[in-house]
Amino acid sequence: MEKQEKDVYILAVESSCDETAAAVVKNGRWVLSNVISSQIALHTLYGGVVPEIASRKHIENIDGVIRQALTDAGMTLAEMDAVGVTYGPGLVGALLVGVAEAKAIAFAADKPLIGVHHIEGHICANYIEDKTFEPPYIALVVSGGHSHLVQVSDYGKYEILGRTRDDAAGEAYDKVARAIGMGYPGGPKIDAAAKQGDPNAVRFPRVFLEEESYDFSFSGLKSAVLNYVNKQKMTGEPIVPEDIAASFQQSVVEVLVEKTVKAAKERGMKQVALAGGVASNSALRAGMRAACEREGLSLHIPSPVLCTDNAAMIGCAAYYEYLAGVRDGWDLNANPNLKLGER
Ligand code: KG4
Ligand code: ZN
Repeated sequence: MEKQEKDVYILAVESSCDETAAAVVKNGRWVLSNVISSQIALHTLYGGVVPEIASRKHIENIDGVIRQALTDAGMTLAEMDAVGVTYGPGLVGALLVGVAEAKAIAFAADKPLIGVHHIEGHICANYIEDKTFEPPYIALVVSGGHSHLVQVSDYGKYEILGRTRDDAAGEAYDKVARAIGMGYPGGPKIDAAAKQGDPNAVRFPRVFLEEESYDFSFSGLKSAVLNYVNKQKMTGEPIVPEDIAASFQQSVVEVLVEKTVKAAKERGMKQVALAGGVASNSALRAGMRAACEREGLSLHIPSPVLCTDNAAMIGCAAYYEYLAGVRDGWDLNANPNLKLGER
């Protein structure tokens, strides 16, 4: 990257799911503020994210969250160089709130508007974590809505090598947690319970699909867990949630680690990066670290607060778009099915 003559400040907004978030990011990698208003407690009442409620809460919170982000950074809107916003993929009603807000702010303050892909944001969290990290690398993006294996050849240059054919990794965590009575969001609960369990207690399937495929499939594993729970109940055998959590997690982690390492080796990449909410999973972090050490790959993982949805990562992605000359018009729209690498 060429050296910037002047510092670039980006105000970033994220509202694709159940977090209303805003951040101020300097030169893509320095987070001056990172405000996240989570709706998790509210959605927990319903066992998952209720899209209509998410949109309404975003509307209630977004002004205050943005104001707080500017205050925390000690800066004004006039000092920003651009406004970045997630415009897809995600829940359409939720995305629309952030997009409309960012457009209004950028228009009123006469600032450039930059639409950001949510997954690109997740990947970029790694640049914030390690200020010296640069492409190329293989990224494993595992969140509540996505499981992607991506080759990042340069800033903004993404090739999707594999994706889930059914449930996302985080979705599988959430569904299994519900089945064993752990509630929402399931990922952190399974992560914690698994520490008390035996990962070899139940042998759940490892779904690798075809030999040459980098795709994932987690719905069979989820069904296997549900079937196991039902069978135990019907035969009056004990159900040990900690053992189920640990055994399920072991299956997920083995597949994610093996496919990621295989992709890095086959593509001649020396670096691996994790991203997305599931990247804060302790077993995945440990499993990937061990495999990367064994294979001589350097591993990058954002801190947990940068793994789950936040706006700092969106500010980082917007910065690289800004440098590349990307500017969106006032017709920017939410795109719930936006593909990575498309505009
Ligand atoms: O990236 P994220 O905040 O939102 C999406 O873009 O989807 O990811 C949320 C997902 C949820 O499915 C949640 O259960 C999962 O990440 N998650 C975890 C952990 N923390 C969050 N999964 C496994 N272990 C964790 N520690
Ligand atoms: Zn996300």
